[in-house]
Amino acid sequence: MWIAKTKAELRARLDAASRPIILVPTMGALHEGHASLISLAKEKAGTEGTVLVSIFVNPIQFDRAGDLAAYPRPLSADLGVCETHGADGVFIPDDGEMYFSDHSVTVKESSLSTHLCGAARPGHFDGVCTVVLKLFLLTGCNSAVFGEKDFQQLAAIRRMVRDLDLQTEIIPHPTIRESDGLAMSSRNIRLTTAQRADAPRIHQALLAAAGESDAESMLRVAGKIIGGSEFAKIDYLSLVDAETLAPTENLSKPAILACAVFYGEVRLFDYVSIGR
Ligand code: PAJ
Repeated sequence: MWIAKTKAELRARLDAASRPIILVPTMGALHEGHASLISLAKEKAGTEGTVLVSIFVNPIQFDRAGDLAAYPRPLSADLGVCETHGADGVFIPDDGEMYFSDHSVTVKESSLSTHLCGAARPGHFDGVCTVVLKLFLLTGCNSAVFGEKDFQQLAAIRRMVRDLDLQTEIIPHPTIRESDGLAMSSRNIRLTTAQRADAPRIHQALLAAAGESDAESMLRVAGKIIGGSEFAKIDYLSLVDAETLAPTENLSKPAILACAVFYGEVRLFDYVSIGR
C-alpha cells in the first residue's frame, strides 16, 4: 500500500494506477463503519481497479474550533485499517497542501443544507462539498463510497454531482452500528462510560417512534425516550421529506425521522427512514 502526502505524489501514483479508481473519503479515526466502506470499494474495484482512501480532517467543515482541535488523529492505526481492508493507496495531505492560505472559491449548496444539521452549522456542507469536489478532481476517481449514516451529507454530495455535472458515481453504504444499536462514529470514543451506556437510547427512540402512525406521535415518542436521559440534550428532532429534507407531516411520501443529540460536548446524530 502506497502513501501520498502531496498532490504531486498522488498524481504520480494515480498516473500509474489501473482503473477504475474508487475513492473512500474520510477524516481518519477509522472504525468498522469506515472499514466496511473500504471493503465495498475493494469489491467494486475488482482485481484490476485501485482503492484509494483519503484521510484529511477538513478544517473548513468545522464550525467549532474546539471540535476541530479535539478530532482524534490516530494515523498509524488508520493506516493499518486501510491496509487490512484492501486499500491500494492512501492520500494524507496536510492543510497547506489542500488549501492556499488565501483560498477564496468554494462550493455552495443552498437548499438541502438549510435543514437538520445544516441549520445549526452554517457553511458545514459547503465545506464538505468543497473538499469532496477537490478530492474528485485531484484523484479523477470513477466512483466514491459514502456512508448513509450521514444521509444529509450524502444528499448534498449527490446534489452537487447532479448540479455540477460531475462524472463520479456515488456508491452508498448502509450504516454500521455497535451491537447495542449505537451508530458507529469517530466521536463515540469521546463519551464517558456512563454516556456511552446511555447513548443507544437514540436508536431505540427512533425505532420506537417509527412504529407510530402520525408525525406528531413520532416526535412525541422519540422526544420522550431521549428526554428521559440524564445526559442527552436534544439539538433537534425532526421529521423531514426524504427528498427535500424540509420538515413535513406527510407520511404518504418517504420521510426521515432524524435527530442530533448532545452528550456533553459530543454531538451524536442518527435517523430512521419512514415509509420505504
Ligand atoms: P468521516 O466522518 O470520517 O466519514 C467518512 C465516511 O464514512 C463518510 O462517508 C461517512 O458517512 C462514513 N461513515 C461514518 N460512520 C459510519 C457508519 N457507522 N456506518 C457507515 N458509514 C459510516 O464524512 C466525513 O468523514 C467527511 O465529511 C468527508 C466526507 C470525508 C469530507 O471531509
